[in-house]
Amino acid sequence: MELDVNGARRQIAHPDEPLLWVLRDELGLNGVRYGCGIGVCGCCTVLLDAEAVRSCQVSAAQAAGRAVTTLEGLADGETLHPAQQAYLENPLQCGWCLPGHVMTAVALLSRDADPTPEQIEAEASRNLCRCGGYGAVRENVTRAASIARERS
Ligand code: FES
Ligand code: FES
Repeated sequence: MELDVNGARRQIAHPDEPLLWVLRDELGLNGVRYGCGIGVCGCCTVLLDAEAVRSCQVSAAQAAGRAVTTLEGLADGETLHPAQQAYLENPLQCGWCLPGHVMTAVALLSRDADPTPEQIEAEASRNLCRCGGYGAVRENVTRAASIARERS
């Protein structure tokens, strides 16, 4: 079957496998991280259309007909997405959780370009960071929203 991944039609061989493994192992998109495999940590988060989804919890077949976006598909040419830019300016410690936080921020900003501190707090706490980088996550979501406003 085919999936729409990062703007391209991609042929995949294992539609019944978790989307996480199809993206990583079949398509080589290692920006999708494996953490827990049970839907808890959020580091496997990708976008299905504009919705942040834990890719370990859906099969590839369930993504059919939707636009799948991973970290690799966010930049517009040489221009990073505001959420990528914010994390580049203010990196996390080990960075394992970073793709999930970036994708979650992208989904939040697509719903609300000017999120409240409460929304940012709720989104930041959706994904686990074993290094305790939640302060930086909050700063980065706020900064990403600011970059997006500067660009518009
Ligand atoms: S690997 Fe999917 S939520 Fe942890
Ligand atoms: S920076 Fe290490 S898990 Fe978040």
